[in-house]
Amino acid sequence: MVTTKPAARPDNPRFSSGPCAKPPVWKLDALSDAPLGRSHRAAVGKAKLAEAIDLTREVLGVPADYRIGIVPASDTGAFEMAMWSLLGERPAQMVAWESFGAGWVTDVVKQLKIEATTHTAEYGEIVDMAALNYDNDVCFTWNGTTSGVRVVSGDVIPADRAGLTLCDATSAAFAQDLPWDKLDVTTFSWQKVMGGEAAHGMLILSPRAVERLESYTPAWPLPKIFRLTKGGKLIEGIFRGETINTPSMLAVEDYLVALKWGRSIGGLDGLMHRANANARAIWNFCADKPWIANLAVDPATRSNTSVCLKFTDDRITDGAAFAKAVAKRLEAEGIALDIGAYRDAPAGLRIWCGATVETSDIEAMLPWLEWAFEAEINA
Ligand SMILES: Cc1ncc(COP(=O)(O)O)c(C=O)c1O
Repeated sequence: MVTTKPAARPDNPRFSSGPCAKPPVWKLDALSDAPLGRSHRAAVGKAKLAEAIDLTREVLGVPADYRIGIVPASDTGAFEMAMWSLLGERPAQMVAWESFGAGWVTDVVKQLKIEATTHTAEYGEIVDMAALNYDNDVCFTWNGTTSGVRVVSGDVIPADRAGLTLCDATSAAFAQDLPWDKLDVTTFSWQKVMGGEAAHGMLILSPRAVERLESYTPAWPLPKIFRLTKGGKLIEGIFRGETINTPSMLAVEDYLVALKWGRSIGGLDGLMHRANANARAIWNFCADKPWIANLAVDPATRSNTSVCLKFTDDRITDGAAFAKAVAKRLEAEGIALDIGAYRDAPAGLRIWCGATVETSDIEAMLPWLEWAFEAEINA
């Protein structure tokens, strides 16, 4: 039992699940090469945008024949642009086991109103990805940020599928190994695992996704901000850094700093290693304590980025109020910021473990979590 305040404190108490902590090497000065006040269409701007695309490809190991584009409106913009541009050619399978996946179901069923089968699971559980019809288009989230449950592997996705797979990988990219050959559309935003700035979305398209874009025109109108084709051909410029509208060159510079840091620590392997070490520190802590547990029911599906925890002590009568009070104590002590569970998720905590978080900070925070738990029980 920890009833006195631990001596050690995390150097960085930022454990938010987005925007996430900046890379450990980050300084405002590192952005001094940003071409501010210049046109993003000038050579210098275009070169920065192209570098962001090239480094993304290098660090993530995206195949050479996949397109990578920087698009407006963060991950939501990228994923909705893909759904609005590609879906409707055949029925869809909509898959959700937490809040963001559920949002994509609403888009397809209530807004696009296309023929769709919906597969859902409760928070903590996951949909059986082997039971889906991959001759339909399949929309899913790789890592459920609000439930801390992730897809374990893409092996069950058939290589010879007739439909497309659309994957929201915003809290998985740079922390989990994504099977590019099984993903036709992959989206993410900069402010998650790389600790970049929010604003822009990344849209990664397989050759089959491009084929669909060039052979199918949706029945609904597409605003300029979503348009990926012109005259039935892909707008290739988008995938060279000629963005649809104006990007923030400061945010681009910041993403470049993060990517270069990622490359310097061993690229994807180094980034995954850091996230794994962070999550493992929390899993080990929970294994030792009878009062807290992972929200993910099957240990194989536990996220290594958005680690979601629930309190399991019988003495707790109001779970939501208890979790909030624990998070508030930790915030007030400057030990852990923004670790309350997502508003739609079951009561508990969500601790970001992506690569920009230091394992030593997680380790320093955990005794404080025990302290806050005991203090709240005693209160
Ligand atoms: C799985 C998932 N999808 C979508 C979003 C929305 O992302 P953005 O705010 O970058 O549009 C989030 C944000 O946390 C998320 O976790």
